Amino acid sequence: MERTFAIIKPNAFLAGNAGKIIARIYAEGFKIVGMKKLYLSKREAEGFYYVHKDRPFFGELTDFMSSGPCIVMVLEAEGAIKKWRDLMGATNPANAAEGTLRREFGDSLEANATHGSDAPETAAFEIGYFFSGLELLM
Ligand code: CMP
Repeated sequence: MERTFAIIKPNAFLAGNAGKIIARIYAEGFKIVGMKKLYLSKREAEGFYYVHKDRPFFGELTDFMSSGPCIVMVLEAEGAIKKWRDLMGATNPANAAEGTLRREFGDSLEANATHGSDAPETAAFEIGYFFSGLELLM
């Protein structure tokens, strides 16, 4: 079984869509092995998105991610990383396919409703950023 890291971003949380997204996660066959609601500081958002620190959108992205509550989760399934990315859809909601979460709940490139790890090494870093091993006991 593989694990991936997921965020329900502030726009989706504040619009009241977290419940629908979590229901969809279960319906697609993921197990949620860790979950909590957080209100990230700017500094915490910068640490999380450190790999993007030299990208032009870094400031706006970290402002947005610290503008309201998030739900952070560890999801488990066969091929969880790709399965979750497929369910989210393309990064830009305007390009996301019908039936994907970003198409349904995304508002813009930053406020694209959800985040997911893009590779096993990223998943390990991102899970460890928010969860201790003790929080992920099944
Ligand atoms: P996320 O999966 O959270 O990972 C990085 C985020 O940066 C991405 O989703 C988008 O919300 C945001 N972003 C803003 N501009 C861009 C861009 N030009 N390319 C990729 N990601 C971008």
